[in-house]
Amino acid sequence: MSTISLPSELTSALPSGYGIRRLQKTDKADFLAVLSVLTTVGDIPDPAWNDRFEYIAKNEDTYTILCITDEAGQVCATGSLIVERKFIRNCGLVGHIEDIAVAKDKQGKRLGLRMIQALDHIAEQAGCYKSILDCSESNKGFYEKCGFKFAGVEMAHYY
Ligand code: ACO
Repeated sequence: MSTISLPSELTSALPSGYGIRRLQKTDKADFLAVLSVLTTVGDIPDPAWNDRFEYIAKNEDTYTILCITDEAGQVCATGSLIVERKFIRNCGLVGHIEDIAVAKDKQGKRLGLRMIQALDHIAEQAGCYKSILDCSESNKGFYEKCGFKFAGVEMAHYY
């Protein structure tokens, strides 16, 4: 798995002792606990975790899952970028930012902001002409602070 390269202004803006890196296979418990602040995660058995992890690791030009770790090395924030390959815009690329979550006791330390800046940087480096995301009304202000602007309405069809 390749390491990610982020601007030093971004990594040095993290709280002292914190780091940012790709998701690792050994992160299962911490990572899923952080994601549970966002939505239902479910009880994921190890073989299912391993299969999904390996698929994502094999397709890292499409999937990036980042983790911020605290001074104890524990995952305390996460976010994902999926790079979509289109035909429109001359075979353009669009970044989809998904599953942003910061552990409850670590919120308010600008970890969410740093996560979005990191994913935005990776999307731009990958050649995406834009990144988009869906969020609730209550998170609109957060994404505006991250530089995003309102651009439509989310629709969903659940199966
Ligand atoms: N509404 C308005 N402003 C906000 C909000 C909000 N809900 N949350 C944070 N902010 C502001 C902060 O006050 C801060 O402003 P400042 O720069 O003026 O000080 C700025 O946004 C950056 O805030 P952070 O400290 O980086 O926010 P945090 O690390 O707490 O992360 C997050 C924000 C990701 C929304 C976190 O609260 C969280 O994990 N919530 C639960 C899960 C969730 O809702 N995730 C987003 C789902 S949408 C998606 O995944 C695409």
